[in-house]
Amino acid sequence: MNLAMRDVRHPTSDMNIVVEDFFNVPPRTAVFAPYAVKNAKGQIKKEIIIPNVDAVVANPPYTRYVEISESTRNSIDRAIGPIMKTYGLQGGIRGKVTETGIYIYFVMYAAQFLTEGGRIGMIISNGWLQTDYGIAFANFLTSTFKIKAVIDFSSRLFSVPIIATCVILLEKCSIENERENNNAVFGYVNGKTTVDALIDLVETESKPPKGTIARRVKQRQLVGDQKWIQVMFNPERMEQALASNSTFVKMSELFQPLRGNTTWSKVAFDKALRPNVGPGEFFDLDKGTVNKWGLEKFAKPAITGIRQSKFFTFTKNDWRELSSEGKKAYYFICHTRKSDLPKGVLEYIKWGETQCRTTIRESRGGGEICSRTWVCQERAKNKDFYGWYDLGGVIPTPIFAVRHGWYKTRFAVTDFPVAMYDAAIALIPKTKLTYSQIQAEAAYLNSSFCQLHIETHGRATSGGVIGLETKVAEQIPILDVRALSQKQIEELSMLFNGLEQKARELEGADTFEKIQLLTNEIQNIDEYVGNLLRLPKGEIKLVQAMVRSLVDRRTSRAHEAKPETVAGKDMPRIKIPKKSKKGLFDTANQPLDKWT
Ligand SMILES: C[S@@+](CC[C@H](N)C(=O)[O-])C[C@H]1O[C@@H](n2cnc3c(N)ncnc32)[C@H](O)[C@@H]1O
Repeated sequence: MNLAMRDVRHPTSDMNIVVEDFFNVPPRTAVFAPYAVKNAKGQIKKEIIIPNVDAVVANPPYTRYVEISESTRNSIDRAIGPIMKTYGLQGGIRGKVTETGIYIYFVMYAAQFLTEGGRIGMIISNGWLQTDYGIAFANFLTSTFKIKAVIDFSSRLFSVPIIATCVILLEKCSIENERENNNAVFGYVNGKTTVDALIDLVETESKPPKGTIARRVKQRQLVGDQKWIQVMFNPERMEQALASNSTFVKMSELFQPLRGNTTWSKVAFDKALRPNVGPGEFFDLDKGTVNKWGLEKFAKPAITGIRQSKFFTFTKNDWRELSSEGKKAYYFICHTRKSDLPKGVLEYIKWGETQCRTTIRESRGGGEICSRTWVCQERAKNKDFYGWYDLGGVIPTPIFAVRHGWYKTRFAVTDFPVAMYDAAIALIPKTKLTYSQIQAEAAYLNSSFCQLHIETHGRATSGGVIGLETKVAEQIPILDVRALSQKQIEELSMLFNGLEQKARELEGADTFEKIQLLTNEIQNIDEYVGNLLRLPKGEIKLVQAMVRSLVDRRTSRAHEAKPETVAGKDMPRIKIPKKSKKGLFDTANQPLDKWT
């Protein structure tokens, strides 16, 4: 279509066009052309023999298997069912892999049309590079083709939000030894470049052109269960640099990461129980409620929602402001026997046992009396607590991180005792650290080096956020601030203050635009850390580019839900109708080619 709209003129009578669902056209068979030809006998439909082909070029749809019509699913299963099974790539909600994009099936089927040495060039979504099913797909690729190149494009190159795209160039090869000795080019284009420069990169041993990060990898090294995003960026190399440097240690050496920082958070962590403290309807308090029931002695300053913390510090002043605005800025922390409690507090607890109910949806277990919820019951059984209402106390926490970050996993410093809920990853020091040492650590934790580790080891959700779990946090290589000189501590804490000051000027560090405006401050920290590691400038830039790319691809997956645009083109596409109640699209019985 695109070519047709560009009015390309090259008259030929040698073009055979078959208008049919690709998966209904078997290789090496005879099919009828859509037009008739006249000869002496009259009009006859021309027969086309589909031969083995030298090349397949395509831009298959990025649609997910679960979104296509049953008839197309059946066609795919008929065409490549056995091979999907061999590689564990059956799609579907209960399939072995979920969320598969159907472009992978186009590649798998196209392979059956190729002669030995024949080539495939396709533009497909780059989602698979980072997913579990991508590992299975990569196994199919390495055992069928010489991987000539995988070129990934930053979505920043396009002026509208598009589905992130990559180009794959493959050559069919049945000889294992030849495949294994092939050099595969992995390229990431994040600046302006030309097609010729990219072809040079693939065909010659030339260096990557400007705006492109690339590496060549022997195909032998591509086997196993690695996601190719790791192959493309090779973050392990950077991790090794950090691991072998004496000024770095694992997070678990200096801090215990916990979800929240009440005594209950620690018990829940040790016993692998759910870390939430229980219903917010009871435990989260605002000033009015505190006064109404006379809970002053048992109401402790708290962060009860991550939106309450927008900067790189959370100060007593920030908290006072929340409290005076009537926000739920307190936790009910009552480590006292009922028999020792004043009347008002006892009445409040009674209210939690008789009237206060959870307000989450009933289908998710809502509407329950607070004291009877699972977490509260679990606590009631524990002899370290005086009852379901008792959270123990607040563990001092000088740094915490936002567990679900959008554009950045933000680490913030506190200057006073504040309780935190379970979506804050509280870093509890295992050793005594000064406030400057904490600030210096926070500078590093907000650097691209740390973000790279989180992006590559954290759990990226299909909604686009990056989740930092305590187990992952424990393994993050961090600065051993005890090993730094006083001067280095001061310099790093100054860089942290610079970051915080800018965030305050911007009135937050919690949106994409604001994080963008903090680039300089984060880069200053990156450079300092890079110098500590004695890394060349280019390597620091590489870390920053990797983080940018990983964040882009993660967040652009969220745009996939709004596919009004076709990848590679700044052009609107027909909107797919909304989901029906059954979870499938209303048009699930429409073939895909009806959407055009
Ligand atoms: C990403 S678009 C490609 C657009 C193309 N590059 C252009 O410029 O028009 C994918 C195309 O594949 C077509 N398609 C989807 N499923 C198909 C199938 N099973 N067989 C053949 N074509 C299919 C869609 O109709 C759509 O036109």
